[in-house]
Amino acid sequence: MTLLALDGCDVFYGKAQALHRVSMEIEAGEVVSLIGRNGAGKSTILKTLIGLNFATRGRRLWKGGDVTALRADQLGRLGIAYVPEDRRIFANLSVEENLRIATVMGRRGAWNAGRVYDLFPVLRERAAQPGDTLSGGEQQMLAISRGLLTNPEVLLLDEPTEGLAPLIVDQLVEAMRLVNVEGMALLLVEQNLRVPMKLAHRQYVIDHGTIRWSGTTAELQANRGEIEKLISV
Ligand SMILES: Nc1ncnc2c1ncn2[C@@H]1O[C@H](COP(=O)(O)OP(=O)(O)OP(=O)(O)O)[C@@H](O)[C@H]1O
Ligand SMILES: [Mg+2]
Repeated sequence: MTLLALDGCDVFYGKAQALHRVSMEIEAGEVVSLIGRNGAGKSTILKTLIGLNFATRGRRLWKGGDVTALRADQLGRLGIAYVPEDRRIFANLSVEENLRIATVMGRRGAWNAGRVYDLFPVLRERAAQPGDTLSGGEQQMLAISRGLLTNPEVLLLDEPTEGLAPLIVDQLVEAMRLVNVEGMALLLVEQNLRVPMKLAHRQYVIDHGTIRWSGTTAELQANRGEIEKLISV
């Protein structure tokens, strides 16, 4: 079943067109990557999916129904969560308070604070510490945890591994894999192929606001040279 889709979307910032006829879909239970270089339009697509940007042409679909006009809060209640590039955790609140707010705002489901602490044990150790005392990797873990606690059916992740040390990236990859194995669909935005090749079932490559390529991870592997050119800076 297709959970979330864009169908032929144009998005503008003022007079500048950021997306051109973008179509993409996320099936229940799959990991999809959206890969592209700086300024390609990756975050714009995520914001369009979650209702922070609106398409002037095209539709947003949820489980086949037209949700083009719904706002972000309404889409959140349907079961879409979003972890933005800047992580947006509460700097002055403790880890535990950050998690509690997400729980209160979210839907009911399998994910609760205890399970999030099992997924990221370092957060349990840091439970009483303010958000801004965490390392970059720990802040990303907290941001992902806040997304999980809203118990979405699909979680949109904007460059979750950017700027993090390889060891932390590996931990995040394993955590995302576990989350997906338990049934949650993930849309993962990245600037390079490293994490998508490890984690995603299907891939979209975007450049200059246009989807330039899509296919399975095996197909990407077979066309790797051509794809690398589309995303190299
Ligand atoms: N709020 C905005 N107002 C005007 N232009 C914007 C705005 N946000 C993004 N843009 C422009 O839209 C285009 C796509 O930006 P977007 O942030 O979606 O790219 P991205 O692929 O996420 O890039 P990055 O890898 O740097 O995060 C870029 O040309 C960018 O300058
Ligand atoms: Mg971006």
